[in-house]
Amino acid sequence: MKIKIKGINLLVKEGVFNPDPKNTNSSSMILNNLPNIKQKEILDVGCGTGIIGIYCALNGSKKVLATDIDNKAIQNTKENIKINKVSNIKVLKSDLFEKVKGSFDYIFGNLPINDKSWNLNISTVELMNKFLSEAKKHLKNNGKVFFTWNSDDGVEPVRILLNKGHYNYKEKIEKKPDKLWYLFEVSK
Ligand SMILES: C[S@@+](CC[C@H](N)C(=O)[O-])C[C@H]1O[C@@H](n2cnc3c(N)ncnc32)[C@H](O)[C@@H]1O
Repeated sequence: MKIKIKGINLLVKEGVFNPDPKNTNSSSMILNNLPNIKQKEILDVGCGTGIIGIYCALNGSKKVLATDIDNKAIQNTKENIKINKVSNIKVLKSDLFEKVKGSFDYIFGNLPINDKSWNLNISTVELMNKFLSEAKKHLKNNGKVFFTWNSDDGVEPVRILLNKGHYNYKEKIEKKPDKLWYLFEVSK
């Protein structure tokens, strides 16, 4: 399937998450609330089609690393990089930060957020917990982590893990007809 998001032509291959706003608010919530990404080093964890990383690379970021655990997503991101002729982006297959080296100004994690929709071997809250604790080690000074959530499985478990881990965070809420969407901004 071919879609266009924020001027970017995207191929969405079978089995890869479709970031179309008709399907989800998660990718758009990140893209519509980006910090100043110009000249920044970006990590897009769980890149899917590559939309967030490709957007940053095409809009002034210095360099971008896009990662995913899934081979289909990695292949799809590579194809979208070619389609959009992006040069300042690299793609890496990795389970969260397993293969990631270095530190970044901004880390985006639009990761699985609904247990029933994903066949993971851990809960989405546990995945987020792992993501946040590993992300800390890959943030530059003044770096920030952004991730999304929604009300399907409830947001309280996420707030609990952020509070327990003494994370410094802000949250933004958007109300859509069917559910609430959350964007968390976590500082070091
Ligand atoms: C909701 S999709 C979002 C894709 C993309 N970020 C976007 O905005 O369209 C979540 C992505 O996280 C990936 N993922 C799931 N578990 C992961 C893990 N442990 N490490 C890295 N990526 C993971 C999935 O394969 C999927 O591509």
